[in-house]
Amino acid sequence: MSKNVLLVGNGAREHVMGETIKRSPQNPKLCVFAAIHNPGLMKLADAYRVAPLSDFEALKAFVEEEGIELAAIGPENPLGEGIADFLLSLGVKVAAPIKSLARLETAKSFTRDLLAKYDIPGNPLFRVFSDSEGMLEFMRDDLNGEFVVKAEGLHGGKGVKVMGDHFNSIEEGLAFAEECIQEEGKVVVEEKLYGQEFSLMSFVDGKTVVDMPAAQDHKRAFENDEGPNTGGMGTYSDANHSLPFLTEEDLKKAHEITVQVMQALEKDHDALYKGVMYGGFIATAKGVSLIEYNARFGDPEAMNVLPLLKTDFVSVLEAICDGTLDQLPVEFADQATVCKYVVPQGYPDNPVRNEKVSVGEIPAGVKVYYASVDKRDDGIYLSGSRAIAMVGIADTIAEAEKLAQKAVESVSGPVFYRKDIGTDELIGRRVQHMRSVRG
Ligand code: GLY
Repeated sequence: MSKNVLLVGNGAREHVMGETIKRSPQNPKLCVFAAIHNPGLMKLADAYRVAPLSDFEALKAFVEEEGIELAAIGPENPLGEGIADFLLSLGVKVAAPIKSLARLETAKSFTRDLLAKYDIPGNPLFRVFSDSEGMLEFMRDDLNGEFVVKAEGLHGGKGVKVMGDHFNSIEEGLAFAEECIQEEGKVVVEEKLYGQEFSLMSFVDGKTVVDMPAAQDHKRAFENDEGPNTGGMGTYSDANHSLPFLTEEDLKKAHEITVQVMQALEKDHDALYKGVMYGGFIATAKGVSLIEYNARFGDPEAMNVLPLLKTDFVSVLEAICDGTLDQLPVEFADQATVCKYVVPQGYPDNPVRNEKVSVGEIPAGVKVYYASVDKRDDGIYLSGSRAIAMVGIADTIAEAEKLAQKAVESVSGPVFYRKDIGTDELIGRRVQHMRSVRG
């Protein structure tokens, strides 16, 4: 009998999750609970309900009407609001963490303190402050003025500010940290790290950690990593599931950190973490450090890895829930991917909205995933955030880049994208940078 699977969310990440669920040989019924009319998801879904993602009463009605048995959650906010706990209370299996364990993403001090308590490698020098006493000395003397200030909760990527990028003086850093304390009662101040960042997402059932291919995101809006930070303008992954600037040892270290954090969560909270642990890591001169964890798939990283998943995704989700990941061989195709996001002009600070976009001819080997767009009777309209993700899939990063580039060029409307993501030139610079960091 086919399974009724709930998917919560409405961006490109959820579009690829929905596509991967629908590829299952179990022929599942895909039931999407979304806040907007995503044209890609609407096409895939067997049932589509539009409501605020925080409307748990509407969610309950949908779950009951559709006879939902299994759930996957896309974005972090519902996890922070306890959506997994709520669905579990309705008797649904949920491949996502309960609220107390989703604090891995929703509470910055939680993760730093957990690593420190269990002596897990990967923490930079850090302190959690609930008032400003000693903060100036910590920033100036212990961190030599090289610091990052992290607001405690979820701030849509705007809660992390870095000396040199967002602050030009310790005074500016102190002022932001004090604002954070006023808002949320605490703030994390930590050492600024130098190196190359990478994303390593893992399927986790509380006992077993299965890594997906690594990917590298590009946060800045403009080419050459200039301009404001965004949700991520694009990503690439390599056919060997590593990245051109990483060593085998780097990936092994990142994996070990995730395993130890999963085990520490069980010890500390007497509950098993189930879902995706997405480590934002950085390879530095001193080895691999942890920047942060997310409690969900990355966006865009999900678009790099899920199209390559050869194993039935519904079986993976069930194994996460049942604690049987150790018995399921999870395989990904040995291909490279490049994802480029098409975003509205003015994004992220002052994006155009309610303007029409259309997608032209898409080359073979490219997948198109819709994000923040609204499907109306006469076409697709920009809603103000990242709009359409184009993913080139090929044997090499260079070939995948050419495909993705051709696809983004086919989009007409008031949009832009980053030409440089996945190019030999940019990747060469990353490799060179890493060489100089390692010395
Ligand atoms: N790739 C950034 C994020 O998903 O948060």
